Amino acid sequence: MAVIPVDIAGRPYEVRVGGGLLAEMVEHCRGRLRKRTVPVVTDANVHAAWGEVVEMALRDAGHEPHWRILPPGEGTKSWDQLAATVDWLLAQEVERGDHILALGGGVIGDLTGFAAAIVKRGCHFIQLPTTLLAQVDSSVGGKTAINTPAGKNLVGAFHQPSLVLADLAALDTLPERELRAGYAEVVKYGLIADADFFAWCDTNGAAMLAGDAALREYAVAHSVAAKARIVAADERETTGTRALLNLGHTFGHALEAETGFSDALLHGEAVALGMVLAARYSARRGLMPRASAEHVAHHIAQAGLPADLPSLKLDCDGRALVAHMLHDKKMDAGTLPFLLMKGIGETFLAKDVDLGDVGAFLDAELGA
Ligand SMILES: NC(=O)c1ccc[n+]([C@@H]2O[C@H](COP(=O)([O-])OP(=O)(O)OC[C@H]3O[C@@H](n4cnc5c(N)ncnc54)[C@H](O)[C@@H]3O)[C@@H](O)[C@H]2O)c1
Ligand SMILES: [Zn+2]
Repeated sequence: MAVIPVDIAGRPYEVRVGGGLLAEMVEHCRGRLRKRTVPVVTDANVHAAWGEVVEMALRDAGHEPHWRILPPGEGTKSWDQLAATVDWLLAQEVERGDHILALGGGVIGDLTGFAAAIVKRGCHFIQLPTTLLAQVDSSVGGKTAINTPAGKNLVGAFHQPSLVLADLAALDTLPERELRAGYAEVVKYGLIADADFFAWCDTNGAAMLAGDAALREYAVAHSVAAKARIVAADERETTGTRALLNLGHTFGHALEAETGFSDALLHGEAVALGMVLAARYSARRGLMPRASAEHVAHHIAQAGLPADLPSLKLDCDGRALVAHMLHDKKMDAGTLPFLLMKGIGETFLAKDVDLGDVGAFLDAELGA
């Protein structure tokens, strides 16, 4: 097992990564489960795969889990499900010192974390992430949110968990496509600031995706450590350090918007292609060698992720994609900060990007 400290001032916590942590969860949660009953929020898929393991772990230690099983999917991050979950937690008579368990992917983590942030002005919660994306990204760092008709993640709070238990066994039941989508966020840490880790992904990514347990532990622990460093340096995204985590996300967000935030393109798939586009756009601007950008594209394609725009068969032009970017919540007084690369592992925040030029670049990529 790997243990990664997240050194947030005043609220430090640990991320533990290893195989079998859900079955051993009560031991890891020692001192935190104060009452016999324990509220657990999950979705129906995760409950089907892991409900019994968690149920037995809690019952063996004399606890009684109270389940709230939500519908799977992004639609669950809604006002309606938030309100219903908050009402349910209040009906459970949750106190501020209690811990709510969030068992699932980023959808369950984001919704439960936000509910925990506002019930009684904030109670504790523990993240039990069951997707690769949630293990390496969304369960760490304290961003919680729901979606509204105006856009994704527009309403939320910073609320850190007290503990994160990333059970690598959970990845064994995860659909292959979801696993690959999560891998995009793993590669992201290499591209941001860690060329050695990108090289590690080149060598080991395929075997890691295929199921090698030791490689999975290394990939998840290394990714969590990268995220923990960035979050500890800039918890609330005020200095620009945390913004580095958005590499590939501006292009990716436009692609998600164009495909209606649907199953046609998963978030990680959009980020994968978004990182390729960020690399190619950086090469077009002469910032990064073209060969490095194509190296990124090759790696993404080898991982079974989309690596060029024509593969998405979109019915739009570059201008339409740029129009989606204008609704990005990172828009700042009329300009959109863009993450570009000087090379693999050398991402920086550029404030001088001309969106007309980005549109022309996207037109060229669409016609490729
Ligand atoms: N808070 C953050 O910092 C942050 C960062 C990145 C993404 N996010 C959010 O995360 C969400 C995406 O998270 P996700 O990719 O984990 O999606 P998800 O939670 O929708 O899970 C993906 C699918 O896998 C199923 N599933 C989950 N674990 C499983 C398992 N072990 N076995 C079988 N099926 C399983 C789910 O039911 C779902 O159908 C988005 O809403 C995004 O905005 C948040
Ligand atoms: Zn992401």
